[in-house]
Amino acid sequence: MSSAIIFQIQSTLIVVLFLVGFYFRKVRKIHIPLMATAIIWDIVLILQIELTRSAINKAMKVPSNPGLLNFHVSIAILTVFLYVFMGRTGYLLKKGRVQPRRMHKVMGFLTIICRLSTYITSFFIVK
Ligand code: HEM
Repeated sequence: MSSAIIFQIQSTLIVVLFLVGFYFRKVRKIHIPLMATAIIWDIVLILQIELTRSAINKAMKVPSNPGLLNFHVSIAILTVFLYVFMGRTGYLLKKGRVQPRRMHKVMGFLTIICRLSTYITSFFIVK
């Protein structure tokens, strides 16, 4: 099995974790472990992709759509910043602070949209 397929399988499982965790956003015992696992796993996946990049670059064909690739990479970087924000506001909510609730909610929707966008575009950036 090629590393690209292994990355894509992990990415699919991460998106599933995010969607299930999002569905259970009112059930803390489910929401928190699922979201924390998905965030950590996604960062580990990015590191795996980065560390094997030269190998992938050799194996990869020329991007079929450079504009889409730029969009994909930009949103992926934004998503990592959003993860930090979600982790911080989620931690504060867990500690009983109510103030970050609205931001956690709004940015939570944005984070899910960004992660779904990178997931969908990942299928179209190589020929
Ligand atoms: C990308 C990851 C995450 C997304 C998309 C997300 C999204 C959401 C959303 C939409 C809500 C509902 C807010 C509301 O209706 O008022 C929520 C609630 C909450 N989230 Fe997250 N969240 C994420 C990560 C986390 C993390 C990492 C933690 C903990 C460290 C956390 C802790 C909480 C808590 C404590 C609540 C309140 C649950 C309740 O209603 O009692 N979240 N989250």
